[in-house]
Amino acid sequence: MVNSASQVKQGPFELKGKDFITMADFDQKDIFFLLDQAVEMKNLQKKGIPHPYLNGKVLGMIFEKSSTRTRVSFEVGMLQLGGQAIFLSANDIQLGRGESVGDTAKVLSRYVDGLMIRTFAHESIEQFAQNADVPVINGLTDLHHPTQVLADLLTIYEHKGRLTGLKMCYIGDGNNNMCHSLMEGAASVGMHLSMASPSGYGPNQTILEKAKQLGQANGSTIIYTNSPEEAIEQADIVVTDVWTSMGQEAEQKKRLQAFESFQVNAKLCSRAMKDFIFLHCLPVHRGEEVTADIIDGPHSVVFDEAENRLHAQKAILKTLMKY
Ligand code: CP
Ligand code: NVA
Repeated sequence: MVNSASQVKQGPFELKGKDFITMADFDQKDIFFLLDQAVEMKNLQKKGIPHPYLNGKVLGMIFEKSSTRTRVSFEVGMLQLGGQAIFLSANDIQLGRGESVGDTAKVLSRYVDGLMIRTFAHESIEQFAQNADVPVINGLTDLHHPTQVLADLLTIYEHKGRLTGLKMCYIGDGNNNMCHSLMEGAASVGMHLSMASPSGYGPNQTILEKAKQLGQANGSTIIYTNSPEEAIEQADIVVTDVWTSMGQEAEQKKRLQAFESFQVNAKLCSRAMKDFIFLHCLPVHRGEEVTADIIDGPHSVVFDEAENRLHAQKAILKTLMKY
């Protein structure tokens, strides 16, 4: 059990039909349940035991931004669960020609059993979910990337044997999808989180305040600072992400300058715990947010992290989609 402390009440969870839009959509017991399911999915797959829980079910996947990991892990995950996924590039469906998000959601709900969407404005997925009759999963918006963070928690658990009480630090763009979902995820499982970003690139205040409150209830502290040295001090887990997210390409030059002193490198990491692990959702820009010696070095678990997208998402699909 991922929740080794066992203080979380176990029981029958009615999660079927729910959406997964942010990490905050699920409480602590649900997140531990999903992680336990992910461990089970991984075991079954590694042992070659068939697990066709979603036999005959179909997941529709709309992408308005590029993707390697999210697309392939959802597609392979559905196949391994006995179902199928349909890739819908926004440019190839009428959404790209102006059909409304609401109409698209209503129509697709008549055909498929679940929907995943990767889009820009977070409001778009909220509108999509309001109009869909099947579970909607967030494959990344400008504000959140929850499926990645569930995989990150699974990876941390595998390498550290626990989640609660560990210290994670996030260095870089605080106002991006990864940072926001990490905040909610850490607060939910009782993990301490220190974030460091340059002024003007800090996290969304509403998400930060809510995460702080949730963290307090679960025994974790969520701290935001402008000092990477302070944030990384004695961290068990070091995380960063690109300085320029998808959709922000026009700001790239300005961002390279603003984030210059927030690079994760050997000097900065010398302040972390000796056995720290390094996570990055990928894709990475080596030499920008992180040096090659760190991401390709002995502390890095980024390819386990990428693999765990598959197992964590199968847990989400199996739990939310009706069968
Ligand atoms: N980490 C992640 O979401 O990767 P992709 O953009 O390749 O899906
Ligand atoms: N913050 C990055 C994550 C990519 C998976 C982006 O949105 O481009």
